[in-house]
Amino acid sequence: MALNNKRGHMAYLQPSLVLLLTLSLSTIAVDRGNFKTCDQSGFCKRQRATEPNKSPYVAVLSSINIQPTQLSVQLLNKNTNVRLNLQVIAIKGNIARLRVTETNPLKPRYEIPVGDVLVDEPVQQGLEVLSKDSKSVTVGFLDNKIAIQSDPFRIDFIVRGEPVLSVNSRGLMNFEHIREKAQPPEKAGEEEEKKEEPKEGDGEEQEEVLDDDDDDDDDDDNNDDKNNDAEGEEPGMWEETFKTHKDTKPLGPESIGLDFSFPGFEHVYGIPEHADTLALKSTTSTDPYRLYNLDVFEYELDNPMALYGAVPYMIAHNEKRTVGLFWLNAAEMWVDITSVTADKNVLSKMVDFVAGGDEMPQIDTHWFAESGIIDVFVLLGPSANEVFKQYASLTGTTALPPLFSLAYHQSRWNYNDQDDVRNVDAGFDANNIPYDVIWLDIEHTDGKRYFTWDTGRFPESAEMIKNISSKGRKMVTIIDPHIKRDSNYKIHQEAEAKGYYVKNKDGNDYDGWCWPGSSSWLDYTNPEIRDYWVEKMSLEEYQGSTLDLYTWNDMNEPSVFNGPEITMHKDALHFNNWEHRDVHNIYGMYQQMATALGQVKRSQGKLRPFVLSRAFFAGTQRWGAVWTGDNTGEWGHLKASNPMLLSLNLAGITFSGADVGGFFKNPDTELLTRWYQAAAYQPFFRAHAHIDTPRREPWLKPAEHLDAIREAIKARYVLLPYWYTLFYLSETSGAPVMRPMWVEFPGDKSVFSIEDQYMVGSGLLVRPVTEQGAVGVTVYFPGTDQVYYDADTYKAFPGGQNTYIPVTLNKIPVFYRGGNIIARKERVRRSSILGRLDPYTLVIALNKQGRASGDLYIDDYQSFSYKNGEFIHRKFTFENNKLTNSNADSSGSFETASWLERVRIVGLNRRPSKIQITSSSGTTELEFKYDNNNDMLTIRKPSINIAQDFTITLQ
Ligand code: NOJ
Repeated sequence: MALNNKRGHMAYLQPSLVLLLTLSLSTIAVDRGNFKTCDQSGFCKRQRATEPNKSPYVAVLSSINIQPTQLSVQLLNKNTNVRLNLQVIAIKGNIARLRVTETNPLKPRYEIPVGDVLVDEPVQQGLEVLSKDSKSVTVGFLDNKIAIQSDPFRIDFIVRGEPVLSVNSRGLMNFEHIREKAQPPEKAGEEEEKKEEPKEGDGEEQEEVLDDDDDDDDDDDNNDDKNNDAEGEEPGMWEETFKTHKDTKPLGPESIGLDFSFPGFEHVYGIPEHADTLALKSTTSTDPYRLYNLDVFEYELDNPMALYGAVPYMIAHNEKRTVGLFWLNAAEMWVDITSVTADKNVLSKMVDFVAGGDEMPQIDTHWFAESGIIDVFVLLGPSANEVFKQYASLTGTTALPPLFSLAYHQSRWNYNDQDDVRNVDAGFDANNIPYDVIWLDIEHTDGKRYFTWDTGRFPESAEMIKNISSKGRKMVTIIDPHIKRDSNYKIHQEAEAKGYYVKNKDGNDYDGWCWPGSSSWLDYTNPEIRDYWVEKMSLEEYQGSTLDLYTWNDMNEPSVFNGPEITMHKDALHFNNWEHRDVHNIYGMYQQMATALGQVKRSQGKLRPFVLSRAFFAGTQRWGAVWTGDNTGEWGHLKASNPMLLSLNLAGITFSGADVGGFFKNPDTELLTRWYQAAAYQPFFRAHAHIDTPRREPWLKPAEHLDAIREAIKARYVLLPYWYTLFYLSETSGAPVMRPMWVEFPGDKSVFSIEDQYMVGSGLLVRPVTEQGAVGVTVYFPGTDQVYYDADTYKAFPGGQNTYIPVTLNKIPVFYRGGNIIARKERVRRSSILGRLDPYTLVIALNKQGRASGDLYIDDYQSFSYKNGEFIHRKFTFENNKLTNSNADSSGSFETASWLERVRIVGLNRRPSKIQITSSSGTTELEFKYDNNNDMLTIRKPSINIAQDFTITLQ
């Protein structure tokens, strides 16, 4: 058996090796040798070496075809004579789409079926030709002009006279057309043998093989077929070897590269997943950012290596505007980024734009994908919120999660048996800590056969789940995509018989190594197989499950312990014979999609699903949550969780979190406490830990830490109405719930790189403590016209400055932003749903003009009935000394017994003489208390149903 350095492989390693590996747990460092650098990846190396300013591409303007909503034109590669088709399409909502495909392809190229990532075929809108001559053509739609220059080919996007994006302006476009393999005479046989030989050897020898390939096909200079130009052939085009793994490439080189420059921008964000800064860094002295879903054991911080998920979507932002760039392609991608100065002279020739004046910054980016097509959406904003909406119109929004999933989750690898589960559950009650979900990792199964139970340890699983759910709680079990090749395992029998497994290059079932040992992988890219999976989620099929059992899809990059880079061979074959290389980054999302749809179906379409996935892609937000995988219990990883989650949020995946406490290692109590406090203000809130770490349930910690952890979890529950409302608004608008500061303060350049504080919605500013031994943190309060209030003390802080905030172990620096009204439920129950009818407290944080507003969304917290109008959406407004509660959406109607228990108005600098509430039931006077020191008014017991219109007037 191949020894892989994956910690969890212990399950099938010798005990002595287990000990060795356990000891080595103290040094956490990724084994970089397991993962390719750009230089070790044939297409990355070729694309990155493309020389700038020598573009061979010409837009053949005589071929232009202008339609009401789009134009198409041929692009000719002058070096190869290969022709491509460019389509420029105007899309409703201020989006442009660029598609480049081969004019006469030898073979089709993979495109993701509409409906899977694109929610629908995007609706086009009219564009008009503004000018056209032999050198260029300019079309326009809305405020935008798209100028296409013929030779060399480039495209510029100009919004109201300002350039915002240039395509191929550096001439890096490189579209490797699909070709026949040139057969070098005579030598072919010899070469093959030479390459095969070292296959048995170790990794190092294999790397040399890569170099040996240098002389591959080097005698083809006189081949005159330009479409078959062996002339330009380089090593790695038809096969490449990494460590002991050979990647055959039946279609040869088919990669595609293109450069995009953002004139006027200094900051770009997005393209998760990387353990790196929020504002993306220049890659001039590193590898490009890599997008290739990988199971990276012990990942390191601050580098552009690929991680578990990939969203090929970048956002550029400056004081004036936000622009998005989404390349719809599921193959491996790399992105280079450089910060430069814009060439204003060139831009001024392209557009009616005045050169001269100050230097203009520019971000140059260079993207390359291994296969597929160029299919790029330019989201023209101009505001961040509009860009979010535009991206959501293409790929969908985060589906409103059931309330329990926004509450606190307790996980570890593993809760060992029913007693363990019962005790942990009871531990929460005994210690007065609310929690909603308990998780079972792989050890709960019968030998890692998913959908089964280790009946020795979980003899009464349904009963166990019922005990949990009797308190409104839920359970999650893990279901990975690898299927144990065991002729007695039903899923394997069926999958094998029906031909449902991914195939290897020879057409046999792909067989690799994962937790259960020899395994095969269901081909979720096939809709029929997804339907099969949907049925597997039914209560009849998943024996011992109940409707209160939800799912965790792990290892779905997919992780293959003995595969190249711990994943599947790229020449493995999927549905319709697409190679794994074409679909790699979307594979995991298809599993999560099928799982979620299965959960919906098992409840006859009534209940919302909850599925956590480790791998992700563009569109994942429609199917569930993700987390940042196997992080480490170190301060650096706690700190990194914020930029990582902010990047995910920008890329549409707002329901995301990081393992609280860190997966590897044993966090000390201070770190664990701080982690709880941070995660209480991150969207997905789950503690999880490696099987070899000591237990860390909160009550195992000293009293002061237990207290602080309890308070952090309670703070989450108190704010659940706010989180739930934000998720509802996010489902309708595409806006992230956890927001980089610049999203709320788009014109304040000083916040563009801030990543240690962020906003939850528009109303809460959070600066979690992520430094060991901290006695204070510096918080930047943006906006001289703004005011903020400490969420614990209600002390006011003026905007427009850095402020030192002292902290104790209990303190989480969280601030209400003046101008917001936030609904809270201050009676904390054992689980979120038990508080569904509890009364509300409204916190009205006044802005400097004495105004504030906010939303509250309520439904049954679990079903799809809200889609049929069974919901309440209230709008609270405070101005002119009046609080008004009105209906924000008359299409909703739902009843709740929840009432308004208390109103707290902060930032009110006078004591009212009298307070009255007026509603359909008349006008009554209310009791209140005014706190002079804190400028805070507390109105007691308005005692009116929260869904009823009313006005509270301060006199
Ligand atoms: C890897 C996951 O990232 C981790 O969270 C899980 O505990 C292990 N697999 C075991 O299932």
